[in-house]
Amino acid sequence: MNDINGWQFFHKDIIGKGGQGKVYAAKNEKYEGEYAIKVFKLKWMRNDATRRKRELRINNEIKVFQSIIHKNIIIYIDSGHLKREDIFYIVMDKADTSLKYYIHENDLSLEEKKDFFLQIIEGVRILHDHNIIHRDLKPANILIKDNTVKITDFGISFFLEDRNEPRVTSPWEIVGSRNWRSPQTELGRQDEPSIKEDFYSMGKILYFLLTNGKELYREHFDSREFFLPYIHKDPKYLVFENLFIHTIAENQRDIYDNLDDFIKEFKKAWKEFKMFPIDREIEELVRLAHVFHMNRKYEEHKALITKAYNMDKGNPYGQYYYGKLLYGENRQESLKYFYEVANNSRFSDYLVLADIALLLFHNDDAEMCEILVQRSKILKERRILPKNLSGISEELKKYLKYSALGRP
Ligand SMILES: Nc1ncnc2c1ncn2[C@@H]1O[C@H](COP(=O)(O)OP(=O)(O)O)[C@@H](O)[C@H]1O
Ligand SMILES: [Mg+2]
Repeated sequence: MNDINGWQFFHKDIIGKGGQGKVYAAKNEKYEGEYAIKVFKLKWMRNDATRRKRELRINNEIKVFQSIIHKNIIIYIDSGHLKREDIFYIVMDKADTSLKYYIHENDLSLEEKKDFFLQIIEGVRILHDHNIIHRDLKPANILIKDNTVKITDFGISFFLEDRNEPRVTSPWEIVGSRNWRSPQTELGRQDEPSIKEDFYSMGKILYFLLTNGKELYREHFDSREFFLPYIHKDPKYLVFENLFIHTIAENQRDIYDNLDDFIKEFKKAWKEFKMFPIDREIEELVRLAHVFHMNRKYEEHKALITKAYNMDKGNPYGQYYYGKLLYGENRQESLKYFYEVANNSRFSDYLVLADIALLLFHNDDAEMCEILVQRSKILKERRILPKNLSGISEELKKYLKYSALGRP
């Protein structure tokens, strides 16, 4: 058994290991319950400069701990240095686990994800209110105790008022963790650290939550692998695109410059997510089906169109695309769906109507074809925007344009 100033722990009770120290479950006669002790052994460090920097970081971490008491920051208990052994230690409340593991061990509901993220926001807010930038936000540093988020690991955090103090990171040193740090952090210390670095990591953490633990490896967040509606095969997830564009951005200019904007957008997205109206949902499903079709994923395309149709069998878009789906296999059957759409006099998508007119023309129904062509023309002249085009969000439009998959 080890004893560091009354803190007792066994090596086998290691509960975590990071780049800096090892963390053990520990007890102390003077305190009730179990705690976590983070132990840093510097004795065998040969290089003096490296050792000094480690010490700087440890003191930095202690300083953050001592400045903040908040329910979303892990509670600090004690710290110290054993001179002879050159061991530093920090004692804190012991959490149950970290988000890194929690996400895989629990089937989180969307409400729970939202709740976790709001708590992360609150933790970051208290840091920023104290002029501290965390700079290493990631699931392994988001602890969870009694279902409550507790942010930890402040080794490379930056106090904005300490601009002139010795820095805990060297110029050009890569700080933060791969996959979670912002491109700016990655480039090393060219500029002043910025709270935007934290917003960047928070964007990635949100992505991690919404994808049940996927890490975003590259910054190509607009490619389809990183496109949430594509991953979930559910267009509802489009509502979060704006948040990603303003957090996981290549260029720091695009990142929110204050937490309130971030929260406002987050709450707005969530509200829209919950209220995604059913016909918009059908339209978005159809859009998404197009993306699959263009990528030659015909099974997925078929499944989505069928889903869209079944969602509301009276919806003209569902009818039209379902009809098209059947067109190759059973023309007679598919005409039934086209007539449904054509006879819905309130339907105002001239592109769809013109398309059906063409199909009916090929099926020798010249009269109906003519009616539809006229209706389509009138609608176009009146500049009635096709409902499906005006309804889709800016993000998807951009996405479709980008992948050259959009309809005219
Ligand atoms: N208070 C704690 N309670 C429970 N586990 C912890 C605690 N502190 C750290 N850990 C675990 O140890 C890991 C490393 O701790 P951390 O403070 O992040 O050190 P490092 O700076 O080396 O990354 C964390 O990812 C977490 O899994
Ligand atoms: Mg860590």
